[in-house]
Amino acid sequence: MAAAWVPWRWGWGAVSSRPLRGLSASLARKAPRACWLPACRQKTSLSFLNRPDLPSLAYKKLKGKSPGIIFIPGYLSHMNGTKALAVEEFCKSLGHSYIRFDYSGVGDSDGNLKECTVGKWRKDVLSVIDDIAEGPQILVGSSLGGWLMLHAAVARPQKVVALVGVATAADGLVTQFHALPVEVQKEIELKGEWSLPSEYSEEGFYRIQYSFIKEAEHHCLLHSPIPVTCPVRLLHGMKDDIIPWHTSLHVADRVVSPDVDVILRKHSDHRMKEKADIQLLVYTIDDLIDKLSTLGH
Ligand SMILES: *[C@@H]1O[C@H](CO)[C@@H](O)[C@H](O)[C@H]1NC(C)=O
Repeated sequence: MAAAWVPWRWGWGAVSSRPLRGLSASLARKAPRACWLPACRQKTSLSFLNRPDLPSLAYKKLKGKSPGIIFIPGYLSHMNGTKALAVEEFCKSLGHSYIRFDYSGVGDSDGNLKECTVGKWRKDVLSVIDDIAEGPQILVGSSLGGWLMLHAAVARPQKVVALVGVATAADGLVTQFHALPVEVQKEIELKGEWSLPSEYSEEGFYRIQYSFIKEAEHHCLLHSPIPVTCPVRLLHGMKDDIIPWHTSLHVADRVVSPDVDVILRKHSDHRMKEKADIQLLVYTIDDLIDKLSTLGH
């Protein structure tokens, strides 16, 4: 698979030669010198954010220019996923600051997964923004991370300057739960646990506590206007069988920002980790960086 990581195949050359870009920007954006072999990605060590009374968070930070980019992973995903690493290589090539992290209870962060809630993970994202990131930030949220990025943009409007959602799972598990027949919902309530089939889980399903769903209901956003005013880009695969692509349209409709684009990819699935998906993701970030620089961020 090494060939898939050869930079020219991803078209970085095309990124730096697009006509819209200013001269100084194109000079600043040379082809990446980063190491593209998988083995090289394991080199740098983890950092930890210690928080009083809250689990320590594992993270990796790449220093660089503003705006910084923060990757917010999906449900049970960690900082070493395909998209998180690809965005890091992209940020490295542009010299922009980049942070990826593990939620509490996931990866190398502390905390007990069984006690984790959407509210706690939301707090994790705010800790990363408040205590690790410096200056304006573009948030890239994947799936559940897309839901949390919306919360972060509402809570930190000064610091969050743009959002990129990948298969944004706003209200995700809650919507899925309420789509179940009432008898099934009742059964799950009695059992206290929901076995949600998933091809992405080793067991073949995720065990989700009923209490997790109940807590998550407090963080639902799609029932009223979402006070996010920054540029928002929502990428979604039409073959997504976890979070229907209509969810991204719903988010677009709900955010009050006038600058919202939804990009649907007909043949992409929930993970959006094929080469063309990743290319679209980094182009989208690149465009936002350009846009923000002309806006004076
Ligand atoms: C992610 O990669 C780092 C090395 O770059 C490693 O220390 C860490 O344990 C990895 N995390 C997971 C969850 O695999």
